[in-house]
Amino acid sequence: MRLYKHFVKPILFLFHPDRVHAGIVCVGAWLGKVSITRALLRAMFVYRHPFLKTTVCGITFQNPVGLAGGFDKNAELIQTIPCVGFGFIEVGSITYHPYMGNSRPWSVRLVKDKSLIVNYGLRNKGVTTLLPRIQAQTRTCPVMVNIAKTNDAHIKGDASVADYIASFRLLQDVADMININISCPNTGDGVLFCEDVVLLRKLLDAVQAEHPRKPIFLKLKPDISSEMIASIVSLVKEYSCISGFIISNLTRNRNLLKYVAVSDIEQYKGGISGQPLKDLSTQMIREVYELTQGTYPIIGVGGIFSAEDAYKKIRAGASLVELMTGMIYEGPGLIKKINKGLVKLLERDGFHSISDAVGVDHKK
Ligand SMILES: Cc1cc2nc3c(=O)[nH]c(=O)nc-3n(C[C@H](O)[C@H](O)[C@H](O)COP(=O)(O)O)c2cc1C
Repeated sequence: MRLYKHFVKPILFLFHPDRVHAGIVCVGAWLGKVSITRALLRAMFVYRHPFLKTTVCGITFQNPVGLAGGFDKNAELIQTIPCVGFGFIEVGSITYHPYMGNSRPWSVRLVKDKSLIVNYGLRNKGVTTLLPRIQAQTRTCPVMVNIAKTNDAHIKGDASVADYIASFRLLQDVADMININISCPNTGDGVLFCEDVVLLRKLLDAVQAEHPRKPIFLKLKPDISSEMIASIVSLVKEYSCISGFIISNLTRNRNLLKYVAVSDIEQYKGGISGQPLKDLSTQMIREVYELTQGTYPIIGVGGIFSAEDAYKKIRAGASLVELMTGMIYEGPGLIKKINKGLVKLLERDGFHSISDAVGVDHKK
């Protein structure tokens, strides 16, 4: 962690975050292809402990910390990510048609807020290219595939449901779990399935009709009212095909930023990740856990920078957690640090597994 903080990060942060992201993915993909570098990475970054091993939806995870959707957009890091200590990886978002990305910049660092403005707009190479790539890689941890609607404003209504389903049909067999991303804040049409219950019902009808063979999670955004959250949860309860929720995507609420004036970043489009999102997503996890009485697994994501942050989400109701911005600011050593810290927190509270701690804040 010190090496990253004092030497690597100051150099990386001299360059534009879009370039750094592309460069890290390129180097990471190469490191994952060679068995010696994989072994070296594992020796440096992997931490195992029996308390961390957990089972969700019948799938076993060596630890509960996953890489959030959007870092490995084009499924290049499936072999690398478990070697840096993660318990699972999410690839994508993948869309049926490829998309080159919104107008640049795709990301902007807000360093004091430990946050990013993100506006990739679902840039990815599309299902046809990525399906064989996912199939070709050896996996040593569960792989979640994140599916989104192609970012094309002309694809709307029933056609947008068909677009999701076309990806779903091809990708479900190569995924251990599917994330249906209904909440990307950066799409051209601006329509979000998690804001439109009628459209969401059509999507869930179509997914159910596919007789899914893999656990499916719905990724929600944090900027919806409690009434809307309740409507989504009660709708989802009608469909046996949905296994759980991912909470949450980026926020559009820039007033959560503490150190940057909203007027100073007006020129940048996009959602906000990292620290400002932390409490918002934890609160939403709490709400959904209560509404579902803990019967649906939740993957908690948003602003995790420490074991304490991850543990709060677990105690609020998350069975697994994910992060991305934390790793960008603190380095890949963060995952080991979180896992070690989680073991200490579980011991402190007299628990012997992650599942013992899930949702305990509700039982007080
Ligand atoms: C650079 C970047 C790209 C992202 N791209 C996607 C994406 O393609 N699909 C998606 O579902 N979420 C995407 N996200 C959102 C993350 O998956 C996550 O929900 C959000 O960043 C909160 O987690 P964090 O605070 O740990 O970064 C992206 C986030 C970042 C920072």
